[in-house]
Amino acid sequence: MRRAIYPGSFDPVTNGHLDIIERGCKLFDEIIIAVLVNPEKSSFFSIEERCEILGEVLKEIDRGDCRVVVESFRGLLVQYAAERKANAIVRGIRAISDYEYELQMALMNRRLQPELETVFMMPAEAYSYVSSRLVKEVFQLGARIDGLVPALVEKRMRERNGC
Ligand code: PNS
Repeated sequence: MRRAIYPGSFDPVTNGHLDIIERGCKLFDEIIIAVLVNPEKSSFFSIEERCEILGEVLKEIDRGDCRVVVESFRGLLVQYAAERKANAIVRGIRAISDYEYELQMALMNRRLQPELETVFMMPAEAYSYVSSRLVKEVFQLGARIDGLVPALVEKRMRERNGC
């Protein structure tokens, strides 16, 4: 049983995240999408909304035989991974610029929990520039975000902004 944790803020989930999850489903028997509870960081969607949206949009992707579950977590990722008996952490890397930060985190996590492997995965090129931060920024400035996020996410963002 190979179980991975795919942690992140997912505020909001993008098509890049979903692409990584689909690819991860080919490698793992179970993937836990773990949404970080971070009260210090202001967010567009609440934790509950992010988990609910993820649950909905995950119904649309090709999961093969992989079980995909959504949970929220707080505190140290490695501790949460140990509680869930996960073998690996999955992180998406879009460009070299992501690599430095991701390498630091992966090595710190390895120091804290040597048995837990970090697996870096590359999304499709089409999503190599897509980030939750930029999606929110351009959306709030009135730009279109179709194709970057699932339709449900765009709908929920429009509802939130009253448009
Ligand atoms: O989507 P993000 O915001 O880039 O995800 C970052 C995340 C959630 C993977 C990272 O902040 C994290 O693991 N936070 C949990 C606290 C922790 O374990 N910090 C030490 C990381 S080395």
